[in-house]
Order: sequence, then C-alpha cells, then structure tokens
Amino acid sequence: MSTHQPFGAKRIALGVSGSIAAYKALELASTLTKAGALVDVLLSPSAQRFVTPLAFRSLTHRPVLTGVFDPDTPEAIEHVALAQAAEALVVAPATAHMLAKLAHGLADDPVSLLALATAAPVLVAPAMDAHMWEHPAVQANARTLTERGALVVGPAEGRLASGLTGRGRLEEPAVILGHLAGLLGRNGDMAGLTVVVSAGGTAEPVDPVRVLTNRSSGKMGYALAEVARDRGARVVLVSAPTALPALAGVELVPAATAAAMRDAVLAACKDADALVMAAAVADYRPTDPAGQKVKKERSSSLSLALERTEDILAATPRSLVRVGFAAESEDLAAHARSKLVSKALDLVVANDITEAGSGFGADENHVLLVGPQGDEQLDRMPKYQVAWAIWDRVAALLAKRG
Ligand code: CTP
Repeated sequence: MSTHQPFGAKRIALGVSGSIAAYKALELASTLTKAGALVDVLLSPSAQRFVTPLAFRSLTHRPVLTGVFDPDTPEAIEHVALAQAAEALVVAPATAHMLAKLAHGLADDPVSLLALATAAPVLVAPAMDAHMWEHPAVQANARTLTERGALVVGPAEGRLASGLTGRGRLEEPAVILGHLAGLLGRNGDMAGLTVVVSAGGTAEPVDPVRVLTNRSSGKMGYALAEVARDRGARVVLVSAPTALPALAGVELVPAATAAAMRDAVLAACKDADALVMAAAVADYRPTDPAGQKVKKERSSSLSLALERTEDILAATPRSLVRVGFAAESEDLAAHARSKLVSKALDLVVANDITEAGSGFGADENHVLLVGPQGDEQLDRMPKYQVAWAIWDRVAALLAKRG
C-alpha cells in the first residue's frame, strides 16, 4: 500500500523577510524537509540580518536565493524556473514592508520577485508589532492579498519581541504547516465535498467534578479530519474533549457529551456529503447528574443510575455516506457486520481493542473494513494512512451515488 504524506516530494518555496521571527522559518524549513518536501528558501536582504543562508542550506541541502542580481551564482537565473516548479509559496515571516510589496506588486528582492513570477498558491504569515498590524495601511494590504487568493495565516496573539502583548506574533510553525497542507490539497480528489467527522470520547457528568468517559484519545478522528482537509474537502470536526491540538483549516465544534455531540453532528450533517463517526460515544449517562459535588458517605459502596444515550448515527440522514466504528474485544467481523446492518451504514471500521500498539491511544491502527460488499483487512499502519484508506472507500461510494 502506498504511503501518503501531505508534503512528500512537494516543491515548496519559502520566502523569509526581516523580522526577529525569521528564526522560526528555520523550523519550517527543517520540518518540511524532514516531511519529504524539497524546500527552496529565498531571503530578503533584511532577513539576512537575522538568519543566514548557510543555516537554511544546512537544513534543506539546497541552494538559497539571496539576491535578484547575482551573476556569479547559478541561482540568479533560477527564480524563473523556481517560479514554475514551486507548488506553493510560503512567506513566513512576512513583515509589514513585505506585505506592502506583495500587495502592490513590487519586486526588488527574491521573495517579492518570486511572488510575482509564480502562479502557485501563496500563504502569507505576517509578524510585526501589534500597532503596525492594526494600522489601516497594513490591514488594507492584508485584505488585498486575501482578495487576490492568498491565504493569510495569523498573526497570533501573544508576547511580542517588544515585550508587549498583542496580536503580531508569527503563527506557530505547526499551524502554518497545517494550513499549508490544506492549501496544497485544495484541488485534491475530495475538493467540493463537505465531510463531518466526530472524534474523542464523550464525558458524561456525574457531578460538577466527575465525568464518565472512556479511553478514546481522538487520534483516529483527528487523522480522518486531517486527511480529508489534505485532499481538499471542507471538514467539520465535532470533538469530545481530547489532549490534541486543534487542526488548522478544519472547523472545530467542541461537544463534550453524547447529547451535545448529537446536536452538533445533526446540525453539521445538514449540508454534508459524508459522516464518519470515529467518536467513542457513551452508551449510558448518569440519569440525574448531581448539581453539587457528591460527598463520600459512610457506606462502602455507591451506585450510579444510568440511562441510555440516543444513538447519533441512527438519527443521521441516509442521504449521506455514513461510516461507523466498532471497537471490539471478540468476534470482530461478526459484531461489525451486525452494526453495519442495524444502523444501515455504508461502512464499518472495526478494530480489535485487545491488540497491543493499535487502536485506543496508539498512533497506529489495524482495522478491518466491513461493507455491504465484503470485508477488507488493512495492514497495521499509522492512523493518517488508515484515514486515507477510509476516505478512498467513502469517495468511491460518493462517486457511485453521483
Ligand atoms: N455511536 C453513535 N451514538 C451513540 C453511540 C455510538 O453514533 N450513542 C456510534 C459510534 O461513534 C461508532 C458506532 O456508533 O461509530 C459504534 O456503535 P455502537 O453500537 O455504539 O458500539 P458499541 O458502543 O461499542 O456497541 P456495543 O455495546 O454493542 O458493543
């Protein structure tokens, strides 16, 4: 089975302008290179006062463009070839001055020159003092770039180099890369589709302090959302509480309980093409959660009255392609098939929770896909790859339905 990577063999041009945040561009270059991308770095003259071409070349193992008139280097003519080869241009950090150049079409440094010469999608991550970011001139430039189709990511709130706190920090590299993955995939095979994914284990209140929950980490659902984004879909992720960071470019709808998840999923399904319920939804919840903290008493035991939650999948419209999960400890295929039939699903993703290193909390999963046409045992692999295979099945079902 082939391995899918959002950045594998992608040609990424990384333009850096002169901000103290330029050191974070080293992390971007390094992470992208490790993820399999070919990263061509372009440095504006002022960027070179903060970071060196050598540092980037050491990380990317590729030439770094530092000027527009540099007849002694082969790279001097390279910007035209690079403009054609680049699959995305990331300008990070983009200073106020760089935003102005990009908005007005100036081309007196390698970054702004490439931005004019390339037809590749552009991601711009501004970084500057908060007052500069708020200035109407800067806002107008950012708006111009957005209207022209560039994706402006950030700036984020936080502590600035000046020591003040405000909006002006370069967005975190992980967030920039999440948006970049979505940008690279925006014409992917799931472009035009809206999909809903649920993730995590619901937490049903016992009292204001305690909840009934389960061992779901949310990793499988988040991987499903990530892959759908990377293949061009619009993604609504309905998430129970997890320890996972939010996914850039994915609409996150928090839903802590089965009841909240039901409302959120049903609302999101209204204009969706497919639903994958990866969440581990509580089947029972405390009938009457206490308003105040339950205090221990003299008796050595305590009973909780529980009531059934409503089945979310069963309440969703059949017009969607609907996928359920089955986590089982025995008779995997038989239990999965009975869920397929009883909930009238298009696919059930079944995994054996007794297998070490797979399923709950793990980074890999070993699943059996159970559909009306038969079963398919997938290899044990990273959840991102499992998610890819699940969406392959969903995309095929959607194509069949026309
Ligand atoms: N599910 C749901 N609504 C619920 C409970 C579960 O939509 N109230 C979904 C889950 O997200 C999952 C699938 O249904 O996709 C799991 O089916 P279910 O029969 O609930 O699994 P188990 O709880 O494991 O069932 P059983 O107790 O029969 O093993």
